[in-house]
Amino acid sequence: MSSRHHRRKTFFEDCAVSWDIICNHDEAKLEEIFKVLSLKKGDRVLDVGTGTGILIPHILKRIGSEGKIVALDYAENMIRKAMEKFPQKEYPNVNFVIENFFEIASKEPFDSIICYSCFPHLEDKKHFFQKSFNLLKWDGTLLIAHSSSRAEINEMHARKHGAVRYNFLHSLEEIKALGEQYGFAVLAKKNDEKIFYILMKKTKK
Ligand SMILES: C[S@@+](CC[C@H](N)C(=O)[O-])C[C@H]1O[C@@H](n2cnc3c(N)ncnc32)[C@H](O)[C@@H]1O
Repeated sequence: MSSRHHRRKTFFEDCAVSWDIICNHDEAKLEEIFKVLSLKKGDRVLDVGTGTGILIPHILKRIGSEGKIVALDYAENMIRKAMEKFPQKEYPNVNFVIENFFEIASKEPFDSIICYSCFPHLEDKKHFFQKSFNLLKWDGTLLIAHSSSRAEINEMHARKHGAVRYNFLHSLEEIKALGEQYGFAVLAKKNDEKIFYILMKKTKK
Protein backbone atom coordinates (compact mmCIF):
# COMPACT_ATOMS: atom_id res chain seq x y z
CA MET A 1 0.00 0.00 0.00
CA SER A 2 1.47 3.41 -0.98
CA SER A 3 1.83 6.04 1.75
CA ARG A 4 -0.62 8.29 -0.12
CA HIS A 5 -3.20 5.52 -0.19
CA HIS A 6 -2.62 4.88 3.51
CA ARG A 7 -3.05 8.59 4.41
CA ARG A 8 -6.27 8.76 2.38
CA LYS A 9 -7.72 5.68 4.05
CA THR A 10 -6.77 7.02 7.50
CA PHE A 11 -8.40 10.32 6.62
CA PHE A 12 -11.71 8.55 5.88
CA GLU A 13 -11.42 6.33 8.96
CA ASP A 14 -11.16 9.54 11.03
CA CYS A 15 -14.07 11.20 9.20
CA ALA A 16 -16.53 8.42 9.97
CA VAL A 17 -17.65 9.62 13.41
CA SER A 18 -18.83 13.00 12.16
CA TRP A 19 -19.61 12.13 8.52
CA ASP A 20 -23.40 12.23 8.86
CA ILE A 21 -23.23 15.52 10.75
CA ILE A 22 -20.85 17.36 8.40
CA CYS A 23 -22.32 16.10 5.12
CA ASN A 24 -25.49 17.50 3.75
CA HIS A 25 -27.10 15.17 1.23
CA ASP A 26 -29.71 17.00 -0.78
CA GLU A 27 -32.60 14.58 -1.33
CA ALA A 28 -33.77 16.34 -4.51
CA LYS A 29 -30.35 15.90 -6.11
CA LEU A 30 -30.21 12.25 -5.10
CA GLU A 31 -33.66 11.76 -6.63
CA GLU A 32 -32.41 13.30 -9.88
CA ILE A 33 -29.38 11.01 -9.91
CA PHE A 34 -31.53 7.91 -9.29
CA LYS A 35 -34.02 8.95 -11.93
CA VAL A 36 -31.21 8.91 -14.48
CA LEU A 37 -29.88 5.58 -13.25
CA SER A 38 -33.29 3.86 -13.34
CA LEU A 39 -32.65 0.77 -11.22
CA LYS A 40 -35.15 -2.10 -11.41
CA LYS A 41 -36.69 -4.46 -8.87
CA GLY A 42 -34.32 -7.34 -8.25
CA ASP A 43 -31.15 -5.51 -9.39
CA ARG A 44 -27.80 -6.34 -7.87
CA VAL A 45 -25.99 -3.10 -7.07
CA LEU A 46 -22.44 -2.32 -5.93
CA ASP A 47 -22.12 0.93 -3.94
CA VAL A 48 -18.41 1.80 -4.16
CA GLY A 49 -17.22 3.90 -1.22
CA THR A 50 -20.55 3.59 0.53
CA GLY A 51 -19.28 5.54 3.56
CA THR A 52 -22.03 5.54 6.18
CA GLY A 53 -24.52 4.18 3.63
CA ILE A 54 -26.13 7.43 2.51
CA LEU A 55 -27.39 5.83 -0.71
CA ILE A 56 -28.74 2.63 0.80
CA PRO A 57 -32.39 3.75 1.33
CA HIS A 58 -32.46 5.23 -2.19
CA ILE A 59 -31.16 2.03 -3.76
CA LEU A 60 -33.42 -0.25 -1.68
CA LYS A 61 -36.51 1.77 -2.59
CA ARG A 62 -35.86 0.89 -6.23
CA ILE A 63 -34.50 -2.66 -6.16
CA GLY A 64 -36.94 -3.96 -3.53
CA SER A 65 -36.48 -6.95 -1.25
CA GLU A 66 -35.58 -9.20 -4.19
CA GLY A 67 -32.58 -7.01 -5.09
CA LYS A 68 -29.17 -6.99 -3.45
CA ILE A 69 -26.70 -4.28 -2.42
CA VAL A 70 -23.02 -4.80 -1.85
CA ALA A 71 -22.05 -1.74 0.19
CA LEU A 72 -18.27 -1.50 -0.01
CA ASP A 73 -15.76 0.73 1.71
CA TYR A 74 -12.16 0.26 2.75
CA ALA A 75 -12.66 2.40 5.85
CA GLU A 76 -13.82 0.07 8.59
CA ASN A 77 -15.16 2.95 10.71
CA MET A 78 -17.43 4.06 7.87
CA ILE A 79 -18.82 0.54 7.46
CA ARG A 80 -19.37 0.20 11.22
CA LYS A 81 -21.47 3.39 11.17
CA ALA A 82 -23.42 2.12 8.17
CA MET A 83 -24.07 -1.21 9.87
CA GLU A 84 -25.46 0.57 12.93
CA LYS A 85 -27.94 2.36 10.68
CA PHE A 86 -28.82 -0.68 8.58
CA PRO A 87 -28.62 -3.76 10.82
CA GLN A 88 -28.38 -7.12 9.09
CA LYS A 89 -31.61 -8.39 10.70
CA GLU A 90 -33.71 -5.59 9.23
CA TYR A 91 -31.72 -5.28 5.98
CA PRO A 92 -30.90 -8.87 4.94
CA ASN A 93 -30.27 -7.90 1.32
CA VAL A 94 -27.52 -5.38 2.18
CA ASN A 95 -24.10 -6.94 2.35
CA PHE A 96 -21.41 -4.72 3.93
CA VAL A 97 -17.86 -5.32 2.79
CA ILE A 98 -14.70 -3.73 4.20
CA GLU A 99 -12.29 -3.91 1.31
CA ASN A 100 -10.42 -1.93 -1.29
CA PHE A 101 -12.49 -1.71 -4.47
CA PHE A 102 -9.47 -2.72 -6.53
CA GLU A 103 -9.20 -5.98 -4.65
CA ILE A 104 -12.79 -7.23 -4.57
CA ALA A 105 -13.94 -10.33 -6.33
CA SER A 106 -17.54 -11.22 -7.07
CA LYS A 107 -18.87 -14.49 -8.44
CA GLU A 108 -22.12 -12.90 -9.54
CA PRO A 109 -21.97 -9.90 -11.87
CA PHE A 110 -23.69 -6.60 -10.96
CA ASP A 111 -26.49 -4.83 -12.80
CA SER A 112 -25.16 -1.52 -11.65
CA ILE A 113 -22.10 0.03 -9.99
CA ILE A 114 -22.53 3.38 -8.26
CA CYS A 115 -19.58 5.57 -7.41
CA TYR A 116 -21.11 8.46 -5.49
CA SER A 117 -18.75 11.14 -4.11
CA CYS A 118 -15.93 8.66 -4.48
CA PHE A 119 -14.39 8.80 -7.97
CA PRO A 120 -11.74 11.48 -7.21
CA HIS A 121 -10.46 9.36 -4.33
CA LEU A 122 -9.81 6.26 -6.42
CA GLU A 123 -6.13 6.15 -7.18
CA ASP A 124 -6.01 4.43 -10.57
CA LYS A 125 -8.80 5.54 -12.91
CA LYS A 126 -7.90 3.14 -15.71
CA HIS A 127 -7.95 0.24 -13.28
CA PHE A 128 -11.30 1.53 -11.99
CA PHE A 129 -12.89 1.19 -15.44
CA GLN A 130 -11.28 -2.14 -16.12
CA LYS A 131 -12.40 -3.51 -12.76
CA SER A 132 -15.93 -2.10 -13.15
CA PHE A 133 -16.14 -3.66 -16.60
CA ASN A 134 -15.23 -7.06 -15.17
CA LEU A 135 -17.71 -6.77 -12.31
CA LEU A 136 -20.70 -5.77 -14.45
CA LYS A 137 -23.17 -7.75 -16.54
CA TRP A 138 -22.71 -7.16 -20.25
CA ASP A 139 -25.38 -4.41 -20.37
CA GLY A 140 -24.76 -3.21 -16.80
CA THR A 141 -24.51 0.46 -15.86
CA LEU A 142 -21.80 2.48 -14.17
CA LEU A 143 -22.70 5.76 -12.50
CA ILE A 144 -20.21 8.37 -11.28
CA ALA A 145 -22.00 11.17 -9.44
CA HIS A 146 -21.64 14.10 -7.05
CA SER A 147 -24.21 16.41 -5.48
CA SER A 148 -22.16 19.46 -6.48
CA SER A 149 -20.59 20.87 -9.61
CA ARG A 150 -17.14 19.73 -10.69
CA ALA A 151 -15.70 23.16 -9.84
CA GLU A 152 -17.17 23.02 -6.33
CA ILE A 153 -15.78 19.51 -5.71
CA ASN A 154 -12.31 20.50 -6.87
CA GLU A 155 -12.33 23.72 -4.81
CA MET A 156 -13.54 21.84 -1.74
CA HIS A 157 -10.78 19.21 -2.03
CA ALA A 158 -8.16 21.90 -2.60
CA ARG A 159 -9.12 23.48 0.74
CA LYS A 160 -9.01 20.14 2.56
CA HIS A 161 -6.59 17.94 4.40
CA GLY A 162 -3.44 16.99 2.45
CA ALA A 163 -4.67 13.40 2.13
CA VAL A 164 -7.44 14.38 -0.29
CA ARG A 165 -6.19 17.78 -1.50
CA TYR A 166 -5.03 16.44 -4.85
CA ASN A 167 -8.02 14.16 -5.45
CA PHE A 168 -9.14 15.90 -8.58
CA LEU A 169 -12.48 15.28 -10.30
CA HIS A 170 -11.86 14.93 -14.03
CA SER A 171 -14.12 16.57 -16.61
CA LEU A 172 -17.07 14.73 -18.15
CA GLU A 173 -15.16 14.58 -21.44
CA GLU A 174 -12.10 13.05 -19.80
CA ILE A 175 -14.22 10.46 -17.96
CA LYS A 176 -16.15 9.67 -21.14
CA ALA A 177 -12.92 9.14 -23.13
CA LEU A 178 -11.52 6.87 -20.45
CA GLY A 179 -14.76 4.90 -20.13
CA GLU A 180 -14.92 4.40 -23.89
CA GLN A 181 -11.40 2.96 -23.89
CA TYR A 182 -12.64 0.28 -21.51
CA GLY A 183 -15.83 -0.70 -23.34
CA PHE A 184 -18.38 1.77 -21.92
CA ALA A 185 -20.79 4.03 -23.81
CA VAL A 186 -22.22 7.19 -22.26
CA LEU A 187 -26.00 7.19 -21.68
CA ALA A 188 -26.32 10.52 -19.86
CA LYS A 189 -24.10 13.23 -18.40
CA LYS A 190 -24.49 16.54 -16.63
CA ASN A 191 -22.30 19.11 -14.94
CA ASP A 192 -24.05 22.30 -13.90
CA GLU A 193 -23.75 24.50 -10.83
CA LYS A 194 -25.63 21.95 -8.69
CA ILE A 195 -24.83 18.44 -9.82
CA PHE A 196 -22.30 16.25 -11.62
CA TYR A 197 -23.00 12.84 -13.09
CA ILE A 198 -22.07 10.53 -15.89
CA LEU A 199 -23.95 7.32 -16.57
CA MET A 200 -22.31 4.68 -18.75
CA LYS A 201 -23.29 1.30 -20.02
CA LYS A 202 -21.06 -1.68 -20.61
CA THR A 203 -21.31 -2.30 -24.33
CA LYS A 204 -19.09 -5.33 -24.96
CA LYS A 205 -19.12 -8.84 -23.50
C1 LIG B 1 -16.17 11.20 0.12
S1 LIG B 1 -16.57 9.65 0.85
C2 LIG B 1 -18.21 9.36 0.23
C3 LIG B 1 -18.99 8.38 1.05
C4 LIG B 1 -20.44 8.17 0.60
N1 LIG B 1 -20.51 7.69 -0.77
C5 LIG B 1 -21.22 9.45 0.78
O1 LIG B 1 -21.48 10.12 -0.22
O2 LIG B 1 -21.53 9.79 1.91
C6 LIG B 1 -15.61 8.53 -0.11
C7 LIG B 1 -15.61 7.13 0.46
O3 LIG B 1 -14.94 6.25 -0.44
C8 LIG B 1 -14.15 5.35 0.31
N2 LIG B 1 -13.08 4.88 -0.59
C9 LIG B 1 -12.14 5.63 -1.21
N3 LIG B 1 -11.35 4.86 -1.95
C10 LIG B 1 -11.78 3.58 -1.80
C11 LIG B 1 -11.35 2.32 -2.32
N4 LIG B 1 -10.31 2.22 -3.13
N5 LIG B 1 -12.05 1.21 -1.97
C12 LIG B 1 -13.11 1.29 -1.13
N6 LIG B 1 -13.56 2.46 -0.60
C13 LIG B 1 -12.90 3.58 -0.94
C14 LIG B 1 -13.68 6.17 1.51
O4 LIG B 1 -13.29 5.38 2.60
C15 LIG B 1 -14.91 7.01 1.80
O5 LIG B 1 -15.77 6.40 2.74
